Amino acid sequence: MSESTSATRGSAGGQSGKRGLWSSRLAFILAATGSAVGLGNIWKFPYITGENGGGAFVLVYLLCIAAVGLPIMMAEVMIGRRGGNSPVKSIRNITQAEGLNPGWRLVAAIGVLAAFLILSFYSVIGGWAISYVGTAASGALTNQDADAIGAIFSGLLASPGTLLLWHSVFMALVMFVVARGVRSGLEKAVSILMPALFVLLLVVVGYAMTTGHFGEAVSFLFQPDFSKLTTKGVLVALGHAFFTLSLGMAVMVAYGSYLPKGISIAKTSILVSIMDTVVALLAGLAIFPIVFANGLEPGAGPGLIFQTLPLAFGQMPMGSLFGTLFFVLLIFAAWTSGISLLEPLVEWLEEQKGMTRRTSTLAAGLSCWLLGIASILSLNLWADVTPLGMFSMFEGKTIFDLLDFLTANILLPLGGLLIAVFTGWFMSRQALENELALSSGSFSLWYNTLRYFTPIAVAIVFVYNLI
Ligand code: PFF
Repeated sequence: MSESTSATRGSAGGQSGKRGLWSSRLAFILAATGSAVGLGNIWKFPYITGENGGGAFVLVYLLCIAAVGLPIMMAEVMIGRRGGNSPVKSIRNITQAEGLNPGWRLVAAIGVLAAFLILSFYSVIGGWAISYVGTAASGALTNQDADAIGAIFSGLLASPGTLLLWHSVFMALVMFVVARGVRSGLEKAVSILMPALFVLLLVVVGYAMTTGHFGEAVSFLFQPDFSKLTTKGVLVALGHAFFTLSLGMAVMVAYGSYLPKGISIAKTSILVSIMDTVVALLAGLAIFPIVFANGLEPGAGPGLIFQTLPLAFGQMPMGSLFGTLFFVLLIFAAWTSGISLLEPLVEWLEEQKGMTRRTSTLAAGLSCWLLGIASILSLNLWADVTPLGMFSMFEGKTIFDLLDFLTANILLPLGGLLIAVFTGWFMSRQALENELALSSGSFSLWYNTLRYFTPIAVAIVFVYNLI
């Protein structure tokens, strides 16, 4: 972990010393992991696995991480380090240096837009986690049955005022850190919070093992039953691979721009992907035994962890304490991801509109907060409003569902596809070789995966689902 940390110039535009760099390889890994590990791992992965029938879906998801996500993560970090600026400018620097069409910077613009849309509903769910800290701490979960716990959750969703309060608090937390610049506070926070989250997850997995339904959960997660896999499931797995690794959104480009030269992009990306995957699988192993032990429905949807984990905590010795801690850590996981979602837009406003960091944080954060209100209302007062319901693909989708679907299943794969094409087919091979500094065998594997497999796989899944 002690590789070079001196500020050196990138080759296409350059990392200016003024922006500063991560203090170490570990700092980058923690920040990138902080962005990757979030609600996507602990909240979303278990419920989409439940909705899509388990094992076969998990297998496709793992394949998507390894064969699509990882190569794109390496490409994004590499573009960031080479361009050395905000995502839009980094891509422009590279196109200038290599004589390519400057229009490629639109790829980063799609990413910035996707990140903005995601944060609007991500913050609402971050708000659920904040609300559950109070619920757990008050002892309200102790010795309740599944129905009572379910009623607490539906009660929360039915009250726009409470949701708005916690959504506002979450967004304020994100804006507070972003306004101050992410690195000094963030680096320190993630280095304590990420390991703590990991340990607590292990504690819940330990409890889940005592429910007597651990084996059932293991087979549900790891025994593929392909009859349960639908084409929609494949799209969801692909979209989630992008979501969970924070790809297609220029976030890894932004973080890569602070990565000192001499640090291996491949090794760090592999490590971040592994940690992200381990956390998701642990979340599955923590949650499904409790689901099965209590006769709950694995396909219960977005409320899954808010209905299962509280049951477990309610029955554990010192459950209020563990429950409170768990939701606090869930907030931190979401917080570090939320910060990385706001960062690209703020950077862009600073650069393009010449705003100060504070003003741009305020402008971006408040707009995002405002859009979040639509998601809140779609959980209660607007539950029947389905704006694009006339298209079969969007049938029955509320604003909240639509934002989730449009970003994870359309914008992110599209952004990732374009990144793969830009890197694999347009950037010079020499530049890539220099930046990645891999052995020729590893380089070829990455390069050919990125040129052929990744774009074709994403395009097929994508087009198939649009049709
Ligand atoms: N990767 C985060 C998660 O799994 O919760 C969500 C996320 C963060 C997505 C940052 C995209 C992003 F740019």
